[in-house]
Amino acid sequence: MGLNSHSAYLFILWTSHLFLLTAGDSRVNPRIVTVPKGERRFSLEKHESLTTLYHEENSTSLFVGAEGKLYYVDFENSANYTEDFPKEDSRGCTKPEDQKNYLTFIGKYNNTLLICGTNACQPTCWKWAARKKTLVYGQGLAPFVPDQNSLVLVDGQDIYSTISLYQNNGKIPRFRRVRGAVQLYTSDTVMQNPKFVKATVVKQDESTEKIYYFFREDNPDKSPEAPLNVSRVAQLCKRDKGGTSSLSASKWTTFLKATLVCVDPATKGNYDWLQDVFMVPSDKDWRRTRVYGLFTNCWGYSAVCVYTIGDIDEVFRKSNLKGFSGEMPDIRPGQCPPGNDSTPLKTFKIADSHPEVEDRVQPASPRHRPLFHNKNHYQKIGVHRIQAGDGHTYNVLYLVTDKGYIHKMVEMPQGVLNILEIKPFESPMPVLAMTMDHTRAKLYVSSASEVVEVPMDMCEVYHRSCDSCVLAKDPYCGWADGKCVSLKDNWTALQNMTLQSSQEICPYSDSKQDSPDNYLNVTVALFSRYFLQCRTESHVATYMWHHNDSHIQTCPSPYQPCIHYIKNMTDHHYGRYTCVSEEGGVSQILVREWLVKQPQPSQTLMQKSQAAATSLSIWLGFLQVVTLVLLFQ
Ligand SMILES: *[C@@H]1O[C@H](CO)[C@@H](O)[C@H](O)[C@H]1NC(C)=O
Ligand SMILES: *[C@@H]1O[C@H](CO)[C@@H](O)[C@H](O)[C@H]1NC(C)=O
Ligand SMILES: *[C@@H]1O[C@H](CO)[C@@H](O)[C@H](O)[C@H]1NC(C)=O
Ligand SMILES: *[C@@H]1O[C@H](CO)[C@@H](O)[C@H](O)[C@H]1NC(C)=O
Ligand SMILES: *[C@@H]1O[C@H](CO)[C@@H](O)[C@H](O)[C@H]1NC(C)=O
Ligand SMILES: *[C@@H]1O[C@H](CO)[C@@H](O)[C@H](O)[C@H]1NC(C)=O
Ligand SMILES: *[C@@H]1O[C@H](CO)[C@@H](O)[C@H](O)[C@H]1NC(C)=O
Ligand SMILES: *[C@@H]1O[C@H](CO)[C@@H](O)[C@H](O)[C@H]1NC(C)=O
Ligand SMILES: *[C@@H]1O[C@H](CO)[C@@H](O)[C@H](O)[C@H]1NC(C)=O
Ligand SMILES: *[C@@H]1O[C@H](CO)[C@@H](O)[C@H](O)[C@H]1NC(C)=O
Repeated sequence: MGLNSHSAYLFILWTSHLFLLTAGDSRVNPRIVTVPKGERRFSLEKHESLTTLYHEENSTSLFVGAEGKLYYVDFENSANYTEDFPKEDSRGCTKPEDQKNYLTFIGKYNNTLLICGTNACQPTCWKWAARKKTLVYGQGLAPFVPDQNSLVLVDGQDIYSTISLYQNNGKIPRFRRVRGAVQLYTSDTVMQNPKFVKATVVKQDESTEKIYYFFREDNPDKSPEAPLNVSRVAQLCKRDKGGTSSLSASKWTTFLKATLVCVDPATKGNYDWLQDVFMVPSDKDWRRTRVYGLFTNCWGYSAVCVYTIGDIDEVFRKSNLKGFSGEMPDIRPGQCPPGNDSTPLKTFKIADSHPEVEDRVQPASPRHRPLFHNKNHYQKIGVHRIQAGDGHTYNVLYLVTDKGYIHKMVEMPQGVLNILEIKPFESPMPVLAMTMDHTRAKLYVSSASEVVEVPMDMCEVYHRSCDSCVLAKDPYCGWADGKCVSLKDNWTALQNMTLQSSQEICPYSDSKQDSPDNYLNVTVALFSRYFLQCRTESHVATYMWHHNDSHIQTCPSPYQPCIHYIKNMTDHHYGRYTCVSEEGGVSQILVREWLVKQPQPSQTLMQKSQAAATSLSIWLGFLQVVTLVLLFQ
């Protein structure tokens, strides 16, 4: 895949912002940087430090929970409202800054919307129906104060949570069942200082459903070369009824954990720190459910490793237990007991004292490589499956950077293509939360001051030509009637994701447009300085300048604007200039300028001063570019 690490950094000047790229892994740098097209925005009434999003699949609306407020917006018909959720009283907290009601959870439970908040250290939930709230018990569903370690998972009648039930004791984080079947919690010895990342339920067959949750914890291996943190997946049986002895009656009896491995085999670089997880279910076979794990390393660089639930399940079913050499009981640790049975005491005792399996979970890709890695610091991941015009289904990754941008990447058979950097907010701000609508192909992101609905099919950004539209390899987009359009609007639009050259499908080529009318005529004085500038768009293309149809310059790097500098205009410098990009055997003309000699004898004083001013400003612009290029080289 050519994703090897290099130490060279290049800073790029790009529409007024600077960002960092590595020379080595061009595949993972975005081709195009854009602000959204066709997006819809909704401003929050005040600056929010915390937002929680709730969006129902295939709906047009979004709920946003914030401090003391619930926002509702329907982006389709502009309906919106704000409802206050003040704290009910203020007896709970010792610190004055906690005397607020932070809404931390919104979700459907038992057919009504449940909204939960800290309520000044007295966690409370409200049922929200017909714009009326009814207070319900909130213990275990919202934390006492906002924290980063609160997961809530609703599955049918059951609710699972990692939130402590009491404010002053129970400091050891646990994974619990807090509503529905009998309440259970994890033994305090099975995890060390866990930071929970994601939880999910996978239905394996009619009688077996398993809960998987992902977390980081302190590495029990304290040797100096061992990383401080390890990333884990844990499993539990949904029908776990707790132990049979009085001591184990409220404990999960089917807990096991395994290490998730994410190592680049080329550099042996470890990505130990799990940041986020996104599950892509498979309709046909639960084993093929894909688990996208986003990891960072100690430098803050990122990697995505993809696992399957089938591989995870196999590790739990077959591996030995770490530190256990005795005989395995008939019902193995981690096995869901048949029917309504409880886990035998003997099995529970072994599992409880040996909760970690020996085998580690490796990525499903060939040679267990990460899907990709690069030097961005990503914080969140979302994955959307989309059928392209070629009939194949592609996984499109949306990765949120620490700068508040979104990188859109397509998983291709030979690797990942980073096709777009989206700047969702008007000024760069951290993304507080992200969710998506798979049916309507929308992304929802929130910042401290707004929520934005971003269409995944922003095809207008590749508007320039059939070549730029087709070569973008954006599975949502194709070329039809002189425009780059969403395949949703025209299923027969031209597109081919495996294409090497767009000439195969594009009806006309750029060279046919080479009439003088398409040139920008520029009058330049003899013996003056001039420079021609071409904005580079794709990081995998080559850029060059042609003069009167002959090649005069190839730019060394696609990361900087391609500049042709003329120190002293002489007669042979006049004529036609074109900036040409070449990518995958396809060339496109990006700039056409026709330099015309200034008629010298008829020059008036007025024209002279204008020309001087023009050439001065051009010269200053050039100086600026040169300075930046030199500065950052
Ligand atoms: C999504 O909603 C639209 C309009 O309400 C409906 O026609 C369509 O069938 C729905 N799609 C799915 C997959 O539920
Ligand atoms: C919110 O509602 C107001 C009117 O109540 C409307 O003017 C505004 O456009 C709406 N905003 C959005 C983003 O829907
Ligand atoms: C769900 O709602 C039904 C009817 O509204 C009620 O009988 C049942 O107790 C509710 N279940 C829970 C767990 O709240
Ligand atoms: C390990 O975890 C601690 C706290 O959770 C964090 O500060 C540290 O950066 C992590 N180290 C690595 C290598 O991820
Ligand atoms: C399990 O127990 C429930 C009630 O406790 C009962 O309805 C169900 O039929 C039992 N299932 C089996 C497989 O025994
Ligand atoms: C769809 O795209 C094709 C070209 O692939 C074009 O001929 C046709 O007119 C387009 N249809 C619509 C409704 O735009
Ligand atoms: C896409 O292009 C490839 C290579 O040029 C070709 O083999 C394939 O048949 C094309 N697919 C479609 C659907 O046109
Ligand atoms: C540039 O000048 C040429 C004649 O030299 C003319 O044919 C052409 O239309 C001009 N282009 C524009 C865009 O005005
Ligand atoms: C440009 O070239 C001309 C002719 O070769 C020369 O006379 C003039 O001094 C040059 N100007 C500069 C600024 O180098
Ligand atoms: C390019 O063409 C222009 C006329 O269009 C001519 O003046 C100039 O000398 C030519 N330059 C070269 C290097 O061919």
